[in-house]
Order: sequence, then C-alpha cells, then structure tokens
Amino acid sequence: MTSSDTPSPLLELTDIAVHFGGVKAVDGVTISLDEGLIYGIMGSNGSGKSTLLGAVTRLNPLTRGEMKFDGTQFTKVRPHQVAHLGVARTFQTVRLIDDRTVRDNVLLGLDTVSRRRRRELPDSAVDEVMERVGITAIQRVRPSELSYGMQRRVEIARAIVGKPRLLLLDEPTAGMNTAERDEVSELMRALQSEGLTQLLVEHDVAMMVDVCDYLFGMNQGELIAQGKPAAVVADKAVRESYLGKQAGDA
Ligand SMILES: Nc1ncnc2c1ncn2[C@@H]1O[C@H](COP(=O)(O)OP(=O)(O)OP(=O)(O)O)[C@@H](O)[C@H]1O
Ligand SMILES: [Mg+2]
Repeated sequence: MTSSDTPSPLLELTDIAVHFGGVKAVDGVTISLDEGLIYGIMGSNGSGKSTLLGAVTRLNPLTRGEMKFDGTQFTKVRPHQVAHLGVARTFQTVRLIDDRTVRDNVLLGLDTVSRRRRRELPDSAVDEVMERVGITAIQRVRPSELSYGMQRRVEIARAIVGKPRLLLLDEPTAGMNTAERDEVSELMRALQSEGLTQLLVEHDVAMMVDVCDYLFGMNQGELIAQGKPAAVVADKAVRESYLGKQAGDA
C-alpha cells in the first residue's frame, strides 16, 4: 500500500506499442483499469485487441510502453511472472490439451500461480470452479469430444481456478448460443461481486453494453474512444470503424 489516499489503478498501460515488422498492431495505447470493474474493448477485426491482451501477459513483445500492476512496474517481466502477479487470460482460439481430461486441464491452471498462492489453494478449488462453470459432469471427458462452447467453459475454469486479480477474456462466447452467452455474463458478474477485475474482448455489442462498466474503442492499433458503454457504442468514430464495417461484413 502507498500512503496516498487514492488507490493506484490495478492496471496502468502507458503508450503501449506492439509492432510486427511494419504492422503496427498496437500503437500508442494508454489505458487504466480500476480494481473491481468490468472493462470491454470493442474494435473491428485486426484492430489490435488480442495483441493488446498479449502485450499485458507478455506473449507479445513490447515495441514500447510501460505497464504497472497495482502500482508496480512490470514492463520487463516474463510471462510466468505476469501470471504470478495474478493476471489470467482465456484465448481467442481455445488452447486446451487434448490428451488430458477436462479436470486435468483445469488443474493446469493451478500450475501457473505462484508457489505461495498454490499453498493456499487446495485441489478442491478445481472441483469448486468446475461446479461453478458447469463442467463437473464432463470432467473425465477429453476436450476434443466437447462442443466449442463447452471447451470455452473449460478455458474459463482454467483461468479462474488460481483466483486471479485480473482476468482477460478474449472472445469467451464465440461459438456459444444466446443462453450460454447469458451464463457467461452471469458468471462475470458473480466474479465481479467477489472483486475480480475483468477486461473483455467481444464482438457481441449487446453483451458488452450489458456486462461492462466501461468500454474502450480501438481502431488500427489505436484507442479511438472510451467511456460509459452507451456513449462509446454511440460514438461516431466507433460506429464508423466498427459498427459500419460489421454491418458491411454481414
Ligand atoms: N504474431 C503476429 N505477427 C504478425 N502480425 C500479427 C501478429 N499478431 C497479430 N498480427 C497483426 O496485427 C493486427 C492486429 O491483430 P489482432 O489479432 O490483435 O486483432 P484483433 O483486434 O484481435 O482482431 P480480431 O477481432 O479478428 O480477433 C492484425 O493486422 C494482425 O494481422
Ligand atoms: Mg482478436
């Protein structure tokens, strides 16, 4: 804790850039996330959303910029150390180990936490989280036998089993039907009530407006809007870059 009255944001990104050769996937993004809120990033395909999440977890090397977690710089730390800070994520493309059971895959989420935290977490945390996400009945099954929506639930379970402080969700409801989507929204709210800060990337605008406290709009690697969801969705630049394009794509 610092001595100042206002707590530091949980995550502070300053002038983040990730370039892949000539491609400026992320180019000068500055955002700050307060603890306990649900944030969302909107943006058309290729606008840099996943790359930004990858920058936070250090999967994508930074071209420039600075990052602070809970007031402490973590710009130079390695991916496993980011996990130790309490940052977890799900991937846009499901990444599960196919020759292990669902339960084993969720258990792997405990391997990413720090030793100290691991000692505090009983193996029963896995059973609790599977129950919560609705995958208890399929725990002996292998991921390849599951529907895409179910595989996504397993991913979410693996991400939250270590009780992270920040959860990054990259299109967690892709491939899900409306009822399943609602369940994910509900789960996100329940996790929020326990204090978990979340950053959601989703193309489903209705879900974003419904579940997020605050939205960011991205276009071509840059932040073009931020604010209350209704305002960002109505923002002219966001509509032109995203909603217009999406309608055109349909
Ligand atoms: N590893 C990489 N190497 C080269 N270019 C990359 C790499 N990863 C992403 N890009 C490029 O960076 C840009 C941003 O991609 P990114 O995946 O972050 O977009 P996105 O907003 O997540 O899009 P989507 O909505 O389709 O998931 C794209 O032009 C993409 O082709
Ligand atoms: Mg993406």
